[in-house]
Amino acid sequence: MSMQQHKSIAVIGLGFVGLTTALGFAEKGHRVFGYDQDALKRASYQSGCVPFYEPGVEEALRRQLDKRFLLCNSIALAVQQAELIFLCVGTPVDEVGEMDLSSLIGALTEVLRCVSKDRFYGIAVKSTIPPGTMREHLIPLLLTEGFELGTQVGLAYNPEFLREGSAWNDFLFPDRIVTGSADDRTGRLLEEAYSLFQAPYHRVSPTSAEFVKLASNTLLATMISFANEQAMLAEKIGDIHIPTIFNLLHTDRRWSGQPAEMSKYIYPGCGFGGYCLPKDTFAFQRTAEKYGHRPKLLNAVLDINRDVMESCIERIVAKLGNLDQQVGILGLSFKPGSDDVRGTPSARMIELLLERGCRKIAAYDPMAMSAFSKHYTFPVTMMASVEELERSSDVVVIATAWEEFRTKQHVFDLNCVIDARYLLEDRGDNCNAQPILTNKSTPDVRLI
Ligand SMILES: NC(=O)c1ccc[n+]([C@@H]2O[C@H](COP(=O)([O-])OP(=O)(O)OC[C@H]3O[C@@H](n4cnc5c(N)ncnc54)[C@H](O)[C@@H]3O)[C@@H](O)[C@H]2O)c1
Repeated sequence: MSMQQHKSIAVIGLGFVGLTTALGFAEKGHRVFGYDQDALKRASYQSGCVPFYEPGVEEALRRQLDKRFLLCNSIALAVQQAELIFLCVGTPVDEVGEMDLSSLIGALTEVLRCVSKDRFYGIAVKSTIPPGTMREHLIPLLLTEGFELGTQVGLAYNPEFLREGSAWNDFLFPDRIVTGSADDRTGRLLEEAYSLFQAPYHRVSPTSAEFVKLASNTLLATMISFANEQAMLAEKIGDIHIPTIFNLLHTDRRWSGQPAEMSKYIYPGCGFGGYCLPKDTFAFQRTAEKYGHRPKLLNAVLDINRDVMESCIERIVAKLGNLDQQVGILGLSFKPGSDDVRGTPSARMIELLLERGCRKIAAYDPMAMSAFSKHYTFPVTMMASVEELERSSDVVVIATAWEEFRTKQHVFDLNCVIDARYLLEDRGDNCNAQPILTNKSTPDVRLI
């Protein structure tokens, strides 16, 4: 192991996240300088006591205190000795959901006033922040304070995914490490510091890194609210044992495997379709209303399914030069691996495009063209291949995630593709930030 990997690190804010981060890095061999503005907290840590319950953390404090973890009585002392600085201060929200960034901005300003101008510091924000904060607040602050990004100081966002109760283990053995650095030097420093962890490492844009943290937590919150809405509905219907319902849902094999097949359902596209999901969600919404329960989440699920197709149509129309140009639809079945076209999003897409005045629509599907022609009477010209569709169309829309379309990526002029299933690696118009850079191959995400 090269000595270069061992860094001098400062951690500012030593709460659940900061203390765990500081001790975790110390445990990995880095030299860590910790500072918290709360003098009582510092005194407690200095005596080897952690004032909150987090298994493994107090033991780690006692192992590392005054060895590789040094408590500092000022932010300046912590910062001056470090090459990489992690900001782990709190970012609470107010009653209207506005995140209070004052501690973070305060801490960053203090850090910037402590750095000496003759060497480089990488600053990594670990506090949870809304997407766009780096771009709109933190980078401008750095410039206002007279720094040039990437020369004297650099900035990155490095979301933390640890869970209270298992913070120590989660920090040392993370599912993945995500960093979004605004400059390359900070990106490299972080990569070296984290190279001591055996975890998949992903470099994304700063805004993607901010986004994934909130997406991760709101996904969990949504699943909890789904379960609670179902339980409230079951109470109204009666004669339903709700723990049994959820235990039965947990036996679905789609929850297991690596990645679990359920991940196919947590992937964006142009909406769900087919014979079952739309019909059954609609019917369940009606059942709920009959029993006097307004199923807010189910209503939102159906609304979003309509909205996402509308948004897809807007993107297609915006790309067309005029309504006489040809739109080529790739995929007619409701999902890959099936020729079922009942309730397929492609049919709704074609219907809406015709309503908007599009006059030339062509399509290709590896399996579902004859089923589609039997089922629907839309004026659509069927093409013999992806290549033929691409050659004759002005805008191509990937509407079903057939593997064939991914493998024929080279055929497309990406400026003319709407990848409505987020299937292609280089996604043409969908890609306004750099794609994920990973030290592991991207997992195969086959879509519904
Ligand atoms: N708690 C979690 O499970 C968790 C998990 C992932 C991410 N996060 C995010 O990490 C951040 C920190 O969370 P936490 O639970 O550790 O918060 P916390 O309130 O426990 O700790 C924040 C610490 O920062 C200190 N602080 C504030 N301003 C400071 C300054 N200018 N200089 C030095 N110290 C300062 C406070 O005294 C406090 O000890 C938040 O943005 C949170 O959303 C939390």
